[in-house]
Amino acid sequence: YRIAVFASGQGSNFQALLDASRAAGLGSAEIVLLVCDKPLAPVAERARQAGVDTFLFNPKDYERREDYEAEIAAELERREVDLIVLAGYMRLLTAVLVDRYMGRMINIHPSLLPAFPGKNAIGQAWDYGVKVTGVTVHLVDGGMDTGPVVAQEAVPLLADDSLDALEERIHAAEKKLYPQVVSWFAEGRVIVDGRKVTVLQ
Ligand code: GRF
Repeated sequence: YRIAVFASGQGSNFQALLDASRAAGLGSAEIVLLVCDKPLAPVAERARQAGVDTFLFNPKDYERREDYEAEIAAELERREVDLIVLAGYMRLLTAVLVDRYMGRMINIHPSLLPAFPGKNAIGQAWDYGVKVTGVTVHLVDGGMDTGPVVAQEAVPLLADDSLDALEERIHAAEKKLYPQVVSWFAEGRVIVDGRKVTVLQ
């Protein structure tokens, strides 16, 4: 079962997926490609270190999003990728990828969606004063963090909490949940029916 990870930045989630795959924590899934829109981002270096193939591009070199996505789609097809895993990929996707990988593309977001979509979700939840927040893995559609929910994990606020401490707990929850969800897909346990996503036991 072949996965491609898309990322734009630090790549700590990419690293967690790599570590999980080495520890057999991704089931039968292997990471065959990193797609990155910022060739100088730390995540690209992580891929090189790990010997993972990369498709690096600069969106400014293309007139339209559809143009680079068509190139990405060709790469994915050539490598027979089964699942796209967005891990801090900071761009919306067009129909070129969304339609082709409907139900086979997931994203992780650091809030309990539909609360706090978009950027700085942890800060948004903190400023709002919520008592519980968390992380969400969802299927990707054309919107920003709007697709059907696959899995969520709650992260409660604590007495004497700080934004930094909360961020750390959220990121720890992401690193636990995301590899688990990838392994469910690899095992064929995720059934999608419109917005209802069922994970078979
Ligand atoms: C993560 O918090 C993820 O939930 C969000 O972007 C962040 C990416 O961090 N979508 P990293 O690049 O994986 O370290």
